[in-house]
Amino acid sequence: MKRVQFNQYGGPGEMYMGEGDVPPLKRDQVRVKVRAAAINPLDWKQRQGMMKLFMSREFPKGMGSDFAGVVEAVGEDVRNVDVGDAVFGTMEATKPGAFAEVLVTKARCVVRKPAQLSFTEAACLPIPAATAWAALLVKARVSKDSRVLINGCTGAVGSIAVQLAMAQGARVAGTCSRASMPGARLVGVDPVLDYADEGYRQRVEPFDAIFDTAGTLDVGDGLSMLRPAGVLVDINPTPRRMMRGMLSHRYKIAFATMGTQHLPDIATLAAEGALKATIGLQRPFSDAVATIAEAEQGMRVPGRVVLLF
Ligand SMILES: NC(=O)c1ccc[n+]([C@@H]2O[C@H](COP(=O)([O-])OP(=O)(O)OC[C@H]3O[C@@H](n4cnc5c(N)ncnc54)[C@H](OP(=O)(O)O)[C@@H]3O)[C@@H](O)[C@H]2O)c1
Repeated sequence: MKRVQFNQYGGPGEMYMGEGDVPPLKRDQVRVKVRAAAINPLDWKQRQGMMKLFMSREFPKGMGSDFAGVVEAVGEDVRNVDVGDAVFGTMEATKPGAFAEVLVTKARCVVRKPAQLSFTEAACLPIPAATAWAALLVKARVSKDSRVLINGCTGAVGSIAVQLAMAQGARVAGTCSRASMPGARLVGVDPVLDYADEGYRQRVEPFDAIFDTAGTLDVGDGLSMLRPAGVLVDINPTPRRMMRGMLSHRYKIAFATMGTQHLPDIATLAAEGALKATIGLQRPFSDAVATIAEAEQGMRVPGRVVLLF
């Protein structure tokens, strides 16, 4: 089967469309024929070697995490999905490989796709929604009437975070670029703040939770915008920030993996229309290598880039 792969860590030039073997199925795994796969910043960070401590030593390695498709086979312990089900999900963090005609992943990383969602829409949800869930509901415990600031409120994670916070009854403020401000206002973010004007940090009323999706907030600045019991959540930690996150009650680190167990709840909210990812661009899988490189190099599209099979 065709898949995007690389033989060594490095820049976009390391990726190529290769032939891979479909891995044998373990008892707790599912095999999925991929119909759509969404590109996340994680994909090129893994290829650049930023996660190499957590990855296997084997090469070539596949790329891609988030997908939607149809189950072809299930291991003998699998109970949550059946052969023939339309599903969406993500790869194990240590074993990317969704940019492939066929993939094998843990059954706990997939969930049945609600009929209301297309394969493309469903493929955009797993990492952004699992991350937003982990940050807002697990780490920051956002609830009705919480006042929340989302730094980067129009990105893939940020826009899902806005919807998730609003679904809890929270009041949501957000930062984004000037160009993205009308879209943020349209979905009810209030106030919408221009991240280029850092003076907003002194002007805003304090928040119960701040979710820094962009990784651009200085930790001290973030903490200064919080109420005394408020929480700042970061998803772009450096080793130093990781250490700080472990020692602090007010500054916390979240990862998508902490939210994967909530994929069934995410599917339910999406089926109800309360969670919707924005699709920016759809390209055929045959153009995957060029498309990933463009996304990595900062191609600006208003939403997620999706590969179609
Ligand atoms: N820890 C984890 O498990 C985890 C999971 C998912 C993502 N992440 C990381 O989180 C980051 C965001 O991911 P994503 O998929 O949401 O990316 P994305 O869709 O590219 O969104 C990035 C957002 O950041 C905004 N932004 C850019 N510069 C900013 C600044 N100086 N201040 C505030 N906002 C700024 C952008 O706004 P404009 O478009 O308006 O400029 C955009 O809304 C990536 O670095 C990704 O690797 C981590």
